[in-house]
Amino acid sequence: MRWEGLIKTYKDFLPVNENTPMLTLNEGNTPLIRLDKLSRDWGIDLYVKTEGANPTGSFKDRGMVMAVAKAKEEGSDAIICASTGNTSAAAAAYAARAGMRCVVVIPEGKIAMGKLAQAVMYGAEVVSIEGNFDQALAMVRKISETEPITLVNSVNPYRLEGQKTAAFEICDQLGGAPDILALPVGNAGNISAYWKGFKEYHGVRGTGLPKMHGVQAEGAAAIVHNRVFENPETVATAIRIGNPASWHLANAALSESNGKIDEVSDEEILCMYRKLASSEGIFAEPASCASLAGVYKQLRNGEIPHKAKVVAILTGNGLKDPNTAIDCSPVKPVLLPNDEKAVADHIKGVVHI
Ligand code: F0G
Repeated sequence: MRWEGLIKTYKDFLPVNENTPMLTLNEGNTPLIRLDKLSRDWGIDLYVKTEGANPTGSFKDRGMVMAVAKAKEEGSDAIICASTGNTSAAAAAYAARAGMRCVVVIPEGKIAMGKLAQAVMYGAEVVSIEGNFDQALAMVRKISETEPITLVNSVNPYRLEGQKTAAFEICDQLGGAPDILALPVGNAGNISAYWKGFKEYHGVRGTGLPKMHGVQAEGAAAIVHNRVFENPETVATAIRIGNPASWHLANAALSESNGKIDEVSDEEILCMYRKLASSEGIFAEPASCASLAGVYKQLRNGEIPHKAKVVAILTGNGLKDPNTAIDCSPVKPVLLPNDEKAVADHIKGVVHI
């Protein structure tokens, strides 16, 4: 059967009525891939949900389709968000699809190139400020209170409604909830949405509940240290956030699920970023790899037991951030003359044919 997107598929679980537009870019239904090599090496049953397979290349499409559909239903003709890049790409795409205007406010110089390319191509009004995400969010929250423009950051409750559908998919793909759900945490909307989704699906289908393991970057680990980071810094620009808006919801998810919030260094993130691509063939953006880096850390310190069934969320596609990939990869393209023998000789040296 043809997949027709989240609103149609999960309408019974979503705030959908007869006036809600059936907006879609065929988001959702993303793969759940077993990591065979890492499962064997680490002694667990490890899967990743590749949210980079969504239409704009990140999990944000799940929440954005719902938020934009509801904005349209309520008669709004413009949306606004602050973003480290992925939210702005999704907002711009769904606004274009719905025939609405979109304004995105981003931290100057701190969003990955692919994400910026998306916002401009989808026709958003792009405002770059000499400030960070937290400052941009404070600004757009204020503006949306006085101007006729709908805020579509994850403080908009429809965002979490859409994002919770990923938990439904995991339960269906795996035949129930995993033991542990690991995911990167920035503004803390996604961890809150997943927990809501697991609880709702369990209530209806008896699919069980995972322990929620959130992972922050060391330089932006507000929830781990229970303090605001005024100047968050990390190579994982998507989660370069110092004052998460859904902090209280994340804490509830962590305590209700008997979960854990942890932090990983940029080095650990980049190491997992390279390992995932080169050993499993999956290219996810740096922030996404914080989830797997967290799993690895917790395996070593005994916080994840042997044989546990673990799902790590890969929140965004690696193509979003080509610069980090090129900068941190040990592989450098070899420049040779336009000459078959030179190329053949080089290949022989590399693959021993
Ligand atoms: N991973 C990626 C790739 C993200 O883009 C984000 C957030 C997160 C993880 C964290 O999710 O904020 O719900 O805890 N990106 C936002 C943005 C902030 O503007 O695109 P969260």
